[in-house]
Amino acid sequence: MDFMCGEQPLQGRKIIVTAGGTIEPLDPVRYLGNHSTGKMGYAIAAEAAKLGAEVLLVSGPSNLADPAGVKTVRIQTALEMQAAVQAAYAKADAVIMSAAVADYRPKTVAKDKIKKSDDELVLHLERNPDILYGLGQQKDKQILVGFAAETCNVEEYAKKKLSKKNLDFIVANDVSAKDAGFAVDNNRVQIYFRNGECEKYPLMSKQELAGIILNKIVEMM
Ligand code: CTP
Ligand code: CA
Repeated sequence: MDFMCGEQPLQGRKIIVTAGGTIEPLDPVRYLGNHSTGKMGYAIAAEAAKLGAEVLLVSGPSNLADPAGVKTVRIQTALEMQAAVQAAYAKADAVIMSAAVADYRPKTVAKDKIKKSDDELVLHLERNPDILYGLGQQKDKQILVGFAAETCNVEEYAKKKLSKKNLDFIVANDVSAKDAGFAVDNNRVQIYFRNGECEKYPLMSKQELAGIILNKIVEMM
């Protein structure tokens, strides 16, 4: 399905998009983080708004400006992202989790800056909740879309996540490729669907990929 310019097939639909990486504080001046910049999620949020959706963008720290026509909520940690998504989930028609959520957080956050010593430093980390897995468990009418950034065995890992998290589809990319993935404008993905189908796409802009993902959601609605 192709949309005519200005057509709004997502009019009246509520869509939650997450973007960027969460950061997990270690002390007042340090954190654990990852290389996600938010480009993919911001492109999806902007495109969804253009197609008429009411969009909530829950974003980790990012240098990108709030997309036009999108309600943007900025958070830092995985727990904060989970709370923001959860608060809007019941009324949502779709959730697209493009955020790189930290799987672990420091078990304790030091009140004061940690001083160095001559010994090695051991950090104790505890698991963050899997936000998308939780949404999959509570799923009602919502369309759930996940992302999987892998460095190997892309198909196997993506399919496992698709089924474990109860998703409608998962967008998988090989982040070991230099020209696609983190912090660049392009992505090369495969999309795996619930019914076992897979679509492989060539290298394309994140904006173009946003259009493809939203097109799939429109078809499913
Ligand atoms: N995700 C999430 N909450 C987490 C971790 C991941 O909601 N704590 C979401 C991501 O936003 C993404 C999907 O789950 O849409 C897959 O994330 P990924 O990191 O690839 O998979 P994990 O299940 O965390 O497994 P692993 O990192 O071990 O590959
Ligand atoms: Ca992970």
